[in-house]
Amino acid sequence: MSKIQGKVLKHSEQTRTMHWIHLLCFLILGLTGIGFYFDSAGISNLFGGEANASLVHRWAGVLFTAGPAIYILLNFERFSKFIDTISSFTKDDISWLKTMGGYIPFIKVENPPPQDKYNAGQKLLGGIIIIGCLLMILTGFPMWLWRHLVPAAFLAICYSIHLWVAVILILAIAGHFFLAAIHPKSRVEFASMMLDGYIDAEISAHHNAKWFNTLQEVKEKI
Ligand code: HEM
Repeated sequence: MSKIQGKVLKHSEQTRTMHWIHLLCFLILGLTGIGFYFDSAGISNLFGGEANASLVHRWAGVLFTAGPAIYILLNFERFSKFIDTISSFTKDDISWLKTMGGYIPFIKVENPPPQDKYNAGQKLLGGIIIIGCLLMILTGFPMWLWRHLVPAAFLAICYSIHLWVAVILILAIAGHFFLAAIHPKSRVEFASMMLDGYIDAEISAHHNAKWFNTLQEVKEKI
């Protein structure tokens, strides 16, 4: 039997609430956006017709922007720490990326290099999501509120960026969902972010050894 038992808190209640709000908004934005692009009456009708789908898209966009903004204001220190973690790539992260931490079936890895609270793949994904969301916000609002004020060429650029970043984000989130909810090696992450915030200590000690060791240090100091 393993020596490490019990659970550790990985994601606070506010983080989980913000993640839920952002995910639900993203699903609505993605679905209505796909409906606009393909001019799909089937999708628009789910939201009460084309005009309503457009309204739902815009107001979901407001919540999609306000949710993280309020979270950052209330949790500035925690968010800064998150940015610090996902933007620091050590040589352990580089060697994790070379083998993708053993997540790819044909690359065998006995002992993946120790990782932070987020592994190198999650760090990259975090960067893509933050930059992608900022681009959606920075293009979406001019497309909505200033469409008659900005030059036509600028509006056309906003539409192109909005469309292509949406494609990248939808693919990235699909990959994120597969790894966090379906892949047998990592699906334990799902309950931790979507339910109670806790994860088995043994799993953390193995997958996020650097972070887990800092928790131990804190415990020993108390
Ligand atoms: C702050 C966030 C956002 C705002 C304010 C916003 C706003 C808009 C607006 C005004 C349009 C033009 C369609 C219309 O008139 O109703 C649009 C189109 C679209 N949006 Fe968004 N949006 C946001 C986020 C997103 C996100 C996160 C996605 C994808 C997951 C997305 C995907 C799309 C797509 C695919 C289109 C169609 C583009 C095209 O036909 O070229 N949007 N958005």
